[in-house]
Amino acid sequence: MHKTILGVAATVALTMSGVASAATISIACGSVGQEYEVCKQGAEAWAKQNGHTIRMVSVPADANEQLTFFQQLLSAKSADLDVVRIDVIWTGLLAQHLVDLKPKVTDEELGQFFKPLVQNNTVDGKLVALPWFTDAGILYYRKDLLEKYKQQVPTTWQELATVAKTVTDGEKKAGNTKLVGFVFQAKAAESLTCNALEWIDSFGGGTVVDETGKVTVNNPKAVEAINFFAGLVSSGVAPKGVLNYSEEESRGVFQSGQAVFMRNWPYAWALANAKDSPVKDKVGVAVLPKGGPGGKNSGTLGGWQLSVSQYSKNQEAAIALAKYLTGAEEQKRRALVASFNPTRPALYEDAEILKANPFFGTLQNTFTNAVARPSKATRGQYSKVSSEFRNAVHSSLSGQGNAEKNLKALEDKLNRLSRNGKW
Ligand code: GLC
Repeated sequence: MHKTILGVAATVALTMSGVASAATISIACGSVGQEYEVCKQGAEAWAKQNGHTIRMVSVPADANEQLTFFQQLLSAKSADLDVVRIDVIWTGLLAQHLVDLKPKVTDEELGQFFKPLVQNNTVDGKLVALPWFTDAGILYYRKDLLEKYKQQVPTTWQELATVAKTVTDGEKKAGNTKLVGFVFQAKAAESLTCNALEWIDSFGGGTVVDETGKVTVNNPKAVEAINFFAGLVSSGVAPKGVLNYSEEESRGVFQSGQAVFMRNWPYAWALANAKDSPVKDKVGVAVLPKGGPGGKNSGTLGGWQLSVSQYSKNQEAAIALAKYLTGAEEQKRRALVASFNPTRPALYEDAEILKANPFFGTLQNTFTNAVARPSKATRGQYSKVSSEFRNAVHSSLSGQGNAEKNLKALEDKLNRLSRNGKW
């Protein structure tokens, strides 16, 4: 009896003295590759230091399904989610449900993140998320196979097709019939939107919808780009299977040694070089090729932010967790164990990080100038735009209509949806 009263008194005293009492904080933080595990380690380390407990919320791997899941929970004002990991394209879509973090961080703290990411996460003056890791599409290639066939790293997509064919033909003669040329993400999901945007941009065909909201997707360069990739599938440089691949399926093929080239995000680097990986030390990384000599290198901007739900019953602790996970020390750990690109410029000068991920240094331009999906210009309608776009591309890649026809139909749909670009 005595003990209990004393215990209560101690808790009250602690709470009153400003030290938060123990809480269970729930966090949803992804499930592709090592996302879940590495997030869990970080969150639990924080919880241990602060006397809290973590509840990991499982989410679907597919970005779009995740968005629907969060929209449902947040619209229902559910208190089941404290910290939410949000995609770089969702800040506008979810802003109304998220805590304004501006009063919780100093200008100095905020100044340590990449400025464009802070701007991206600021919606109507409200800081809805802290940048956690950034992403851009990059090219993985098999150094050993390119060397064996005396091939250079391709600088245009056309060269990539030729090199892929030279290597796979050569290997076929030697009995290696499983090897394919190029794998990427062409399942009709958000990852195809990312792939197709960088193809079109690399051919000089714009960004589907421009910054002013004008629908630009139906143009000769965009048509050329999509037809080119449809040709890669029909000619067999890319296996037909890519039509069902997202990130992990392509990584599975590449990491088991069965593809010469792969388009993916940086997370695949740490896994490809893991102890048990069949391609360990055989992989190079380069910027994605240009769409022909007149084109440019491109890579779609991806990446994830941490937000706190307005319906969280433990906002202070949830904010502390989001700050800890996006902090320099934790971002460094994540870069070292899982090649997640930091959102803090200073970490790109860290020798250990650069040693573990040499391409963070050599591809800096790719990460700082990645092409953004048109989520700002299309406002609340981005999900619809993205799904119409990837469906049109998916049809073209699978031979249901050509790019000329499909991009024209897409243009009409997007113009109707936006009242001719007014969104
Ligand atoms: C990566 C990117 C994210 C993108 C997703 C698509 O996780 O970081 O921005 O939406 O892939 O699959």
